[in-house]
Amino acid sequence: MSKKVSGFSKLKKAAKIDWLIEHFFNGSEQAKNTLKTYWNDDKELQQLHDEFSENTLTNFYLPFGIAPNFTINNKIHTIPMAIEESSVVAAASKAAKFWDSRGGFKTTVINTEKIGQVHFSFLGTNEKLNSFFNKIKPQLIESISSIQASMKKRGGGLLDIELRDKTNEVDNYYQLHCTFETVDAMGANFINTCLEEFAATLKRLASTESIFSEREREIEIIMSILSNYVPNCLVRAEVSCLISDLPNTPQLSALEYAEKFVRAVRIAEKEPFRAVTHNKGIMNGIDAVVIATGNDFRAIEAGAHAYAAKDGQYSSLTHATIDNDVFTFYIEIPLAVGTIGGLTSLHPVVKLALEMLEKPNAKELMEIMAVAGLAQNFGAINSLITTGIQKGHMKMHLLNILNQHNASEDEKNTIVKHFEKNTVTHSEVIHQLELLRK
Ligand code: MEV
Repeated sequence: MSKKVSGFSKLKKAAKIDWLIEHFFNGSEQAKNTLKTYWNDDKELQQLHDEFSENTLTNFYLPFGIAPNFTINNKIHTIPMAIEESSVVAAASKAAKFWDSRGGFKTTVINTEKIGQVHFSFLGTNEKLNSFFNKIKPQLIESISSIQASMKKRGGGLLDIELRDKTNEVDNYYQLHCTFETVDAMGANFINTCLEEFAATLKRLASTESIFSEREREIEIIMSILSNYVPNCLVRAEVSCLISDLPNTPQLSALEYAEKFVRAVRIAEKEPFRAVTHNKGIMNGIDAVVIATGNDFRAIEAGAHAYAAKDGQYSSLTHATIDNDVFTFYIEIPLAVGTIGGLTSLHPVVKLALEMLEKPNAKELMEIMAVAGLAQNFGAINSLITTGIQKGHMKMHLLNILNQHNASEDEKNTIVKHFEKNTVTHSEVIHQLELLRK
């Protein structure tokens, strides 16, 4: 049976499901029911979700949890997190509690500049293009005056347009490198609309420019698009305390703990194989808040990892120091996020998440996300340098294993109790379940 299909997007939802079930699941009613089980009874709500995307068949749940007790700049926050990985929310909550009694998290937004570029080809000299650009710059700015009117009222808008000569990298390649302030919006649509207008204006004005030859008048617009690399949309979050306030155990004194912690971060700064996993753990915390607040986690991921490689080698996004008996641990990360527009006013749970955070502006949300990332990284390093990661991880994973094997509530309770004192391994969980079922 051919799995090619034409006009699929025009089919009704039921017909799309039928096509899928017929072509991939042998007409199985059970597969169809699995899809339908996740439909919402509230028809309007279901339609809202269906319309977020194309060819929607059902909903895909992610657990939505909260991590309480985050003191950020002396104010308590309860952070919403949407994530499936079992130990993330628990680790965040534990780190929040730990730092709450040590002064909490301190944050600063360093800057909030967004970037967009018009990439184009010009078959002439840089000098000629430069003098043309300087002449038409006011017209370029004027061309977006109606597009940016309401953004300007909110305190944002275009910051600058720069002509960049990139001919050393790609033949005849130039760009309009544009910077924007988009205040509380992530700003992707606004920026892309402005860029497309710049591109059209640039092309139109070049086509009649008297200093240009015939060839030079034919500017070719390659593309106009925002950049998700936003090194000047940067936030810093920090925790610090006296070394004597760090965990002190018979195995590891507080000073040894601090030194081992700093060394673990140093390894992530210098060793890309470790840095990627280290930063992945940071993103566990950040993405969970990004998703819960209706922001674009792919954009955030791409920008964060590009920033981690800004000095030519992929490195840690967090840093740790010991200075005069004080241990400091901090993150600096670019986060282009919004608290208005996009899903923020559409998705009912996103709305709740933002309300729970007391309707933050974009800067406050950047701070909260950076804190979630730092807390997560603190939790991971703390485990890695003490008990190892598997102890806590497998404990959290225990319920997943039990659910996979359809354990009843009674079985779950008995087995969870057993593993309070024993090491969780996959095979041991199965063994315990088999013992119970005998
Ligand atoms: C797992 O999702 C994340 C960690 O691997 C992060 C780390 O190693 O730092 C625990």
